Amino acid sequence: MSETSKVVLVTGATGGIGSAVCLRLANSGYSLILAARDISKLQAACAALERPGLPSHRWISVDMSSDASIASFSHELATDGTVLDGVVLMPPQMRPTGDCQPPADMWRQLFQSNFIGPLELLKSAISTMRPDPSQGRRAKIVIISAITSVQALGNYATSNVLRCAWLAQAKTLAFAMGERGIHVNTLSLGGTLWHRSTCAPPRLA
Ligand SMILES: NC(=O)c1ccc[n+]([C@@H]2O[C@H](COP(=O)([O-])OP(=O)(O)OC[C@H]3O[C@@H](n4cnc5c(N)ncnc54)[C@H](OP(=O)(O)O)[C@@H]3O)[C@@H](O)[C@H]2O)c1
Repeated sequence: MSETSKVVLVTGATGGIGSAVCLRLANSGYSLILAARDISKLQAACAALERPGLPSHRWISVDMSSDASIASFSHELATDGTVLDGVVLMPPQMRPTGDCQPPADMWRQLFQSNFIGPLELLKSAISTMRPDPSQGRRAKIVIISAITSVQALGNYATSNVLRCAWLAQAKTLAFAMGERGIHVNTLSLGGTLWHRSTCAPPRLA
């Protein structure tokens, strides 16, 4: 890893959107830390990004639905002295559901895997950032959200709620951390096609 290259953590790095984000960032000279669960996919994705003369990349396996896995991820990030300049955070994709009153257990599981877990991971990533606005050094966080953060969709009942939670959390972080030089944004994607896309077409509520 080059001394001067900026380091960006990308979660969901082996998925359709994550792979495209990683390729763009790697080709622009960033050094990446790829995160997802499947180690063999992470290894292959890292290898595919390597280019002579450009910074190298590495991976850390993490399951965002598991507190223990996130704790181990955070420990690895903290102990190797990583200083992150950016994070692209992709909470796991939610399955479509038209059930507007899902059972409590489903809510608990979804809040854990799609909000609480990714937020804990983000917290540990932020703790490694060293922005210094007086020196023009800033850090950036982009949270990949979905169009359900602005428009409720009938077949994405749980996404409608969780994406709005992320939008509110991103605004809260942006207000709290902007002056420190940590910028927080969300990107609310509509249906995004890629070669293995599993996204169901939207149905307006
Ligand atoms: N595709 C769309 O049309 C669309 C539209 C709007 C928003 N989005 C959002 O964009 C993001 C990426 O979408 P995508 O289509 O690229 O999804 P995808 O192809 O299904 O990729 C999901 C990625 O997340 C990882 N992942 C899944 N569960 C995880 C977990 N519990 N812990 C850690 N990593 C996990 C997967 O790797 P492992 O399975 O190895 O963990 C994979 O790298 C998601 O947040 C999705 O909701 C997508």
